[in-house]
Parts: sequence; structure tokens; C-alpha cells
Amino acid sequence: MKSRTFEMDELVRYCNQYGFIFQGSEIYGGLANTWDYGPLGSRLKNQIKDAWRYFFIQIRDNSYEVDSDILMNPTVWEASGHLEGFSDPLLDCKSCKTRHRADNLINDFDSSANADGMTQQEMMDYIRNHQVPCPKCGKSDFTDIRQFNLMFATQRGVTKDTANTIYLRPENAQGEYVNYLNVARTMRAKLPFSIGQIGKAFRNEITPGNFTFRTIEFEQMEFQTFCKEGTDAELYDYYKGYGIRFFESLGLPKEKLRFHDHEKLAHYAKAACDIEYLFPFGWGEINGTHNRTNFDLTRHQQYSGTSMENLDEETKERKVPYIIESTYGLDRIFLALLFECLREEELEGEDTRTVLQLPASLAPIKVNVLPLIKKRHAEKAKDIYKKLSRQMMVQYDESGSIGKRYRRGDAIGIPYAVTIDDNTIENGMVTVRERDSMTQETIRLGDLAHFLAERITPLSFQ
Ligand code: GAP
Repeated sequence: MKSRTFEMDELVRYCNQYGFIFQGSEIYGGLANTWDYGPLGSRLKNQIKDAWRYFFIQIRDNSYEVDSDILMNPTVWEASGHLEGFSDPLLDCKSCKTRHRADNLINDFDSSANADGMTQQEMMDYIRNHQVPCPKCGKSDFTDIRQFNLMFATQRGVTKDTANTIYLRPENAQGEYVNYLNVARTMRAKLPFSIGQIGKAFRNEITPGNFTFRTIEFEQMEFQTFCKEGTDAELYDYYKGYGIRFFESLGLPKEKLRFHDHEKLAHYAKAACDIEYLFPFGWGEINGTHNRTNFDLTRHQQYSGTSMENLDEETKERKVPYIIESTYGLDRIFLALLFECLREEELEGEDTRTVLQLPASLAPIKVNVLPLIKKRHAEKAKDIYKKLSRQMMVQYDESGSIGKRYRRGDAIGIPYAVTIDDNTIENGMVTVRERDSMTQETIRLGDLAHFLAERITPLSFQ
């Protein structure tokens, strides 16, 4: 069957039409780079979180989840280096007053220039020597580059005093690091062990977002493995590979995933690699794996005065552990899955359908319960709906023709439709239609729960 994937503008419209994602603060004209997840979007997000929990916490030995606060003691951000080093190089066009990231200006001007490897001075020289134009007005007359910190600051308490400045976390990782000793103590965890966390992070991004790809508030699923120095390189490679396996299990195909090793490293990293997915707008990072060495824990030891050392029982040495971080951007994975699974299919007779071919375990709603004729079959259908809804997310739909109801269900990815008709009332049989093949099977109502449980199974490694 012929099918095509969606372009960005179509996907944005689809998300709004079906209740996946709405513009943030829409009735007030929105707020740039903010988006609200609707009923189906938040369901899908939760299913992705559940899958991540399964692969990273449940089936892994010595893996523990925490849920730390977004607001932390501000010294955390001094220790982590974010106050000093977590910034973008920005400059303003003197002519039209728009603000740009210097590295993006250069990379967009000449993709072979590789601004990621340049110092601030080298970027400035490049822009001046090549007369790089402003993308908005075409002139090449910029201010000097200034470093602009990406953390959102806010004030605690009633006085506007810098002593009261606190920050919205720009990454979840620090919440895991400051709880490293607590987790080790309470879980009696020995190296290597891991701490994972799902939660919001905030960055004052000025560059346009490609929908939910780059936003100022987003969710990360971060995973930190605390290990002995010397075992770090092997674990780093292992988690790069584990990331690919995780994405393939979600349904992202291998040929649209690639590694991107970093040349320019973040202030905390010894090695860093992204996994990128091929979006319609190009390759984009959906995961980052970093060898953070013992940088973070050593700094927390210095700034807090608390020892972060671990006693090696074999050598009797006390050392600060290394950390291998593998971090996953939930909103970006969500976007990749929609681009991958959403299709317009050509059917017979110039007809088309929109179908969201998510794996059944990720689908926001699992079963569509449909009375064939409202007047005759609604009561029985509602009874089945009520029973099934105790086990899984189910939808009841009685309005419009059965064909239209199938299509509505296909468009939001419901893997199974159960139709209730005279045969149900008279003989206890129901018709089950499968979303992707559109084939139908008649089964006994008493077998329905088992039939669904056999097919809507948790994800597993391919
Ligand atoms: N703790 C390390 C860390 O935060 P990162 O590569 O800066 O590393 C991790 O971010 C992941 O968070 C990225 O791989 C990406 O998927 C997601 N992410 C980062 N910035 C984002 C943004 N502005 N909007 C949406 N997702 C973002």
C-alpha cells in the first residue's frame, strides 16, 4: 500500500486537531517556544516514560529512580559550572536589532565552516572576514559576541536581592548527583550503580524551535551510571549502543538513527556522543551520552565539603566515582515517533486515510469500542467499554458511520476496534479490527480480554 509521511506544518496541524499538542497560552496569542500537551499527547508522553522506566530502571540491576526538586540550592550551579559556563554566544544585528547565535549564523552561512570547533574570537573574526549577512535584513553589521547564560533565574522570598537568586534547573543530572550518597546508603548500592530521573528542565533558548524540538521548558529522561575510573570507557560505549537498542524498540528504524561524536565538549565531559534521528528538517539530537569523569562529584565535594569518595573494597583506596551519563529528550523522542509513525495511506478507489502506526504498547488509547447501531447495541457496548477500561485506556464512540469511526480511531493510533452488533447480543461474538492491516476477525466476547492481552504486549528489545 502506498503511503507518505507528514511535513512539519501538517504535523503541527494534526497535533492540534487531534489533541496531541496545543500552542502554549494559545488564547493570549501564545508564548514563543512553549507548547501544551493535550489529552492524547500527555498519554503518549506517559507511555514513552513507562517504556524508558522499563528499559532503564526495571530490567537493569542496580538502577534506581529519583524525583528531585527543580529548584536547588544555587551553589549546586556554581559547583556544576553552569553559572560560569552554560551559555550561548550571542550577537545583535545593529541594523534590524535581531539577536542571533554566532555559531548558528556561521553554520547556516557555510555548513562546512564548523563553528562548533571555534573559539569566541574565531567566530567573530569569521563573521567579519566573510561579511556573514543577517538572515533577517541581509546587512552584515553586528555587535561583538557576548556570552548569554541559558539558565532562568528567579527570586526567592520578598526582596529582590541577588543573594536570593535561585535557578530553574537546566538539566536533571545535578538532582541525581546531589542524591548519589543518599541512594548509595539507602539502597546499599555498590559501584557500578545507576540513578535515573524523568523531569522538566528549562533553558532560555533564543533560537527558533522546530515545534517541540527546541523549547524553553522540556522533559529529560536522564540516566547516570556511577562507576570506577578505568571502567568508564567501556560503559560509555555500552550506553551508546543501549540507546540505539532502546530507540529501535520504540519503533525508530536503524537507518534513520546515527551517532554524532562531539569535537567541542561541554565543560564537564571527556567524551560525548549524540544519537540523532533524521527529522524532515534534518538530523537532530534525541539522546546524548557523556563521559563526565569525576568532574561533577569532585566539584560537589569541594563546594559542599561533603566527601563523595567511595571505598574500593579490593584495593582499600578511596576515590570519587566517574559518571557515564545517557540522557534522553522526551519531547524530541515524542516528535520523532510522530514523524515516523504518522502516515497518509492511499486506499482503493482514490480514498486515503490518516493512520498513526505506533506500537500498540505506546498507543494513547488501546481499544475503540463501537456499537454498530446506536439504538440497538449501545447498552451492550457501554458494558464492554466499562469492563475493558479497568484494564487499559479504552474509548467509546457511537457517533457517525462505522467506517468514519474506524478512520477516527486509525488517525489517533488506536490499534484495535471492537464492534458490537446483533451477533454479540445473540451469540456473544464481537468483531475485532486491526488498525494497520484493517483485517477483521470475529471472536467470542469471553476471549476478548485474552486476545487483547496477547497482542498489546510491553515493548522488548528487538
Ligand atoms: N545532562 C546533560 C544534558 O542536559 P543535553 O544534551 O544538553 O545534556 C539532553 O540535553 C537532552 O535533552 C538532549 O539530547 C535533547 O534530547 C534534550 N534537550 C536539550 N535541550 C532541549 C530543548 N531546548 N528543547 C527540547 N529538548 C531539549
